[in-house]
Amino acid sequence: MIKIKFRKPKGSEYKEFARVENSEAKQYMSVFTPSECTMLCVGKASEKDLAESAKTRKFLIATINNKIVGTMRYYLKENGILWISMIQVLPKYQKIGVGSGLLSEIEKRAKRLGIDAIALEAQKKADWAIKFYKANNYKILNIKELNKKPFVGTLLKPPVTHTYIFGKVLKNT
Ligand SMILES: CC(C)(COP(=O)(O)OP(=O)(O)OC[C@H]1O[C@@H](n2cnc3c(N)ncnc32)[C@H](O)[C@@H]1OP(=O)(O)O)[C@@H](O)C(=O)NCCC(=O)NCCS
Repeated sequence: MIKIKFRKPKGSEYKEFARVENSEAKQYMSVFTPSECTMLCVGKASEKDLAESAKTRKFLIATINNKIVGTMRYYLKENGILWISMIQVLPKYQKIGVGSGLLSEIEKRAKRLGIDAIALEAQKKADWAIKFYKANNYKILNIKELNKKPFVGTLLKPPVTHTYIFGKVLKNT
């Protein structure tokens, strides 16, 4: 049985963290055009960008035998929900539960902090990601749900048509 561990990365690991984030490029390039990939900043992570991002975002990593195999960026929104901005798993380590492990670890940590819900945005064209969030019991939020507690205030502007907003309420789960 593979042992996956979860922790905050050290600054000295940002380079490897960026490498894991950038490993999504091939998967994205299979469905998105080069200009869409540019717009989505696919393959653009760097050590410098992570150091800058660390001022406003929190990071979580998944490791197997001390190797970083999964990464997540997240932060707490003003309405009290936890927003996942990025999640990536190295292609060689996909489909063995690393991504689901990152989600359940962040849910556990969020619950401990008294956070009611988690939300994130996913590109509709990234069908693998849609399946992944659904498999982890994240629900596509409609406008009515986005205007109700606990998700009200999550978006500063109306959702765009090419993405889904997913959410999961943590209370009593
Ligand atoms: C999305 C991603 C994080 C999933 O990570 P993962 O570690 O492979 O996911 P898991 O092994 O925990 O998968 C859990 C379930 O999600 C679904 N799923 C995951 N990857 C899938 C894929 N490529 N195609 C279809 N379903 C998939 C399956 O139902 C899977 O369960 P199963 O293995 O029993 O079939 C990974 O594919 C990735 O890093 N992709 C590139 C970056 C990305 O798209 N991030 C999300 C941006 S919104």
